[in-house]
Amino acid sequence: MKIAIIQNIIDIVRGKKLFNKPTIPFLVFWVGTKCTLKCKLCCNLIPYIAQESSNSDEILKDLEFICKNVHIQTLQIQGGEPFTHPNADKIIDFVGNLKNIDKVEIATNGTLQLKQNVIDALKKNPHITVRVSDYDCAKNLQDKIIKQLEENNINFYAYKFMYGNNTWFSTGGVNETREENDEKVKKTYDICDEKGCVTYYNGKILTCGKIPAIKLLYNCEQHESYDEVDVRQIRLAYSKPFFDNKDFKLRKSIKLFYKNYHKFKEQCRYCKITGEKHPAAQQLTQNELKEILCQKQ
Ligand SMILES: C[S@@+](CC[C@H](N)C(=O)[O-])C[C@H]1O[C@@H](n2cnc3c(N)ncnc32)[C@H](O)[C@@H]1O
Ligand code: SF4
Ligand code: SF4
Repeated sequence: MKIAIIQNIIDIVRGKKLFNKPTIPFLVFWVGTKCTLKCKLCCNLIPYIAQESSNSDEILKDLEFICKNVHIQTLQIQGGEPFTHPNADKIIDFVGNLKNIDKVEIATNGTLQLKQNVIDALKKNPHITVRVSDYDCAKNLQDKIIKQLEENNINFYAYKFMYGNNTWFSTGGVNETREENDEKVKKTYDICDEKGCVTYYNGKILTCGKIPAIKLLYNCEQHESYDEVDVRQIRLAYSKPFFDNKDFKLRKSIKLFYKNYHKFKEQCRYCKITGEKHPAAQQLTQNELKEILCQKQ
């Protein structure tokens, strides 16, 4: 008994208890919002927001900071379309060398042919798997990237979506009415509140990849302090000269975030997840997109 107590005190002093690393089961790491497709029912509403590649130096510094303090079971590089990023090779190589991640994937729509520097980065990091979303609308283009992946012995697989039958679910669009009934919002959120999956976008860890677009399209920035982890703000914060408390702050924020993970977010009021299934990746024409965005204003 005495030994256990002493051991506990030693652990606390060593920081094992107070500073222990939280786990993120699934981190979706966005490298931007730029995409080559315009999927009408994109669960992240990507076609309806500005198309940008994130600053690779900043997002990689954030990710390095996360990995120093968190154990990540699966990291999925995503966005929009990750291979549109001009520094995709650098990102792949950097992520491939990070510690504390069990599994790394890149989720692509398969519409772009890989540049030689991207192929080289993937070959250098054979533990990274490419997941190609199996879209009918992009079959011809996908044949080309799949040929490249095969010829270069790069691990990949075709992703057949959640239901395995070429269907997507509808999560609502850009013109939904705000749901005021908390019980109903909770019911919608309960569909997402399962695996502890989170999305990193431009310096922040968020509950899902739809939140950035909802914030913009519905002018809904509102959130509780524990709803988001501002990784970049913590990383760039002033530290006391003899005690770098940023690590502790990040771990504490992530633990608080997960403690409150079961609570729906303000942005969920604009989400309409129904049981309705639709063919995956149906494309918007330029006119349809224009019309939807006009109706929005
Ligand atoms: C948002 S995409 C980003 C990566 C890449 N652009 C792609 O499409 O594969 C990530 C994954 O979400 C899936 N997805 C997007 N909208 C969906 C929806 N409404 N229902 C089910 N899955 C969806 C896509 O099929 C893809 O596998
Ligand atoms: S689901 Fe479609 S629109 Fe959305 S990011 Fe992927 S390819 Fe782009
Ligand atoms: S906004 Fe809320 S309800 Fe909608 S997908 Fe994200 S977490 Fe789920």
